[in-house]
Amino acid sequence: MACHGGGLINFTILCSGGWVRPITVVRLPPLVTITIGCPNGSSETPMPASPNEPAPPSGAGLYLDYYNSSYSNYACPNAESIVREVVEKAIAYQGRGIGAGLIRLHFHDCFVEGCDGSVLLNTTASGNNDTEREGAPNKNSLRGFDVIDQAKAALESACPSAVSCADILAFAARDAAARNLSSGKINYTIPAGRWDGRESFANQTGTLPGPFSNLDTLVAKFAAQRLNRTDLVLLSAAHSIGRARCIFISSRPGMNQTLVKDLNGECQSNPSVNQDYKTPDDLDSQYYQNVVDNDALFDSDAALTNSTDTNALVDTYRTNLMNKWEKDFGEAMVKMGKINTKTKGDKGVEIRNQCWTYNAPPNY
Ligand code: HEM
Repeated sequence: MACHGGGLINFTILCSGGWVRPITVVRLPPLVTITIGCPNGSSETPMPASPNEPAPPSGAGLYLDYYNSSYSNYACPNAESIVREVVEKAIAYQGRGIGAGLIRLHFHDCFVEGCDGSVLLNTTASGNNDTEREGAPNKNSLRGFDVIDQAKAALESACPSAVSCADILAFAARDAAARNLSSGKINYTIPAGRWDGRESFANQTGTLPGPFSNLDTLVAKFAAQRLNRTDLVLLSAAHSIGRARCIFISSRPGMNQTLVKDLNGECQSNPSVNQDYKTPDDLDSQYYQNVVDNDALFDSDAALTNSTDTNALVDTYRTNLMNKWEKDFGEAMVKMGKINTKTKGDKGVEIRNQCWTYNAPPNY
């Protein structure tokens, strides 16, 4: 954290991770510099926005219907339906929140070292257990690991060593979004063929944007993954489902004060709240209306109105003619699922036997 000058100073913690609430400090002597720790892995300087449109992730080596094709190592024609069944059962028994958890798990996998299942590991080939799961954005927050483990167990009985954990996660997120949380309105196919990584480090989770990130940081963090401003606006609407901890709720002055009062009340007895108080269980475009009405929970959600182009996109998807958002969201999920994927033949990859740990040699 850096401050400058004396007197009444309003400054922001420069943890670009955006996981720490900006604070206001009153009256410090001139030229004092205070350094505080940032959450694991976040750097201490704001990230500049990229002026250029990033080239999209290539997804080379991924194919539609992969496990039913000659591209896969070993065929597993029912791979996708097996995952779907497990996800549907999980949502039926545990509720729709677990579907929200799966969508977020896939996002957090892809943004840290690519979509390689590294977020699922709690022990790695190099012997560390300070994995991504322990990183500040993930710890005590991510959910859905049990569903992935169940899907993996079912797949290992049906077709041993064939289906990667990274693909299971991509399918599970798709199934949660498509058939379940949007009642079929979101409907997309996703190419597969990802192989699993064997490494995962908590201190690399600083690539994830945080709830206090500003628009420049959000855009830069998406661009670093080759996603553009439209993808940012499209994918942020995943905040129309699931829960958020009270510690992350914005304290921006413009926020709807009736909602703030309600949230404060709820946070007295509960550590988390629904992200979308209007249609909390539906993955839908209500998110954009909430952003426009200043009902969005995070600074990062509200920040989408802070530039002409992102604001125009918010407006387009708020109107959502002919379910445009549902279609475009599916495409953005496919794009996200291609970030830095590892495929057959790449160095240090495998098809894991269990999703929470790498395969010990000699299986490797
Ligand atoms: C744009 C930057 C983003 C930021 C700053 C952000 C931040 C957050 C935070 C802080 C939470 C609450 C976590 C907690 O309380 O422990 C959350 C929840 C969630 N996020 Fe994001 N997120 C972003 C983008 C995304 C994207 C791209 C997706 C998926 C495509 C996503 C899906 C979700 C879901 C579904 C939840 C609810 C999870 C649950 O209920 O278990 N988010 N997000």
